Amino acid sequence: MKDIILRTKKLKKTYHGGTVQAVEALRGINLEFEKGRYYAIVGKSGCGKSTLLHILGALDTPTRGKVICAGEDVFGRSRRELARFRRRQIGFIFQSYNLLQEHTVIENILMPLHLDGREPDKKYLRTTLEMLEIMDLAAKFPSQLSGGEQQRVAVARALSAKPAIVLADEPTGNLDPGTSKHTLALMKDTVEQLGQTLILVTHDMDIAAEAHVQIRIHQGEIVDVKES
Ligand SMILES: Nc1ncnc2c1ncn2[C@@H]1O[C@H](COP(=O)(O)OP(=O)(O)O)[C@@H](O)[C@H]1O
Ligand SMILES: [Mg+2]
Repeated sequence: MKDIILRTKKLKKTYHGGTVQAVEALRGINLEFEKGRYYAIVGKSGCGKSTLLHILGALDTPTRGKVICAGEDVFGRSRRELARFRRRQIGFIFQSYNLLQEHTVIENILMPLHLDGREPDKKYLRTTLEMLEIMDLAAKFPSQLSGGEQQRVAVARALSAKPAIVLADEPTGNLDPGTSKHTLALMKDTVEQLGQTLILVTHDMDIAAEAHVQIRIHQGEIVDVKES
């Protein structure tokens, strides 16, 4: 039987900007994500990829429809429970690494745990840092690192709270092709080893081809789901 960790039901998102016309960014998205698999979301700029990812990670709310995580209605929770869900179940990786410049690498990585008042699982942390090849960078500051190293730190930060689901929005968009490939390979191996579900937005078809499933969006609708 399929082990579905995350599911969307008729998910819709409409943005109402002041004077401009409303934008229907998502027009009824039905998707299922299985535990431990790697998904790529592809489609043209403006088709709704980031909107979908933000709603999956509860960084934004849908206009209509549902997100169900491990059988529970995500947006049926109180604000407090929602924040907790986000901290504990979701790891988010952005294109801009968003590292705190005045904190060391290890402080950055442990930040989500500290905000949640939790201690790291040392063995897990060590595995993550080793797999991402950043063990030796722990005491450095972000400004002392290359772009690829900074993004690997951002990946480790997203993984530190042992989230079940890792969401990445064009995570290597600012890196050169070689570094991008290396970063993604390490990220893929790491989440695979840790049994996490990875959902990655990209417009690069070579990157998407590495995923187990490719989901194509066009103008706010799913137009293709392909297993590779
Ligand atoms: N905060 C916002 N307010 C108004 N419109 C938005 C907002 N965010 C995104 N949009 C619009 O929603 C559509 C989908 O955007 P987005 O999800 O960012 O697409 P993608 O990530 O695929 O490029 C676009 O037309 C975009 O202009
Ligand atoms: Mg986007």
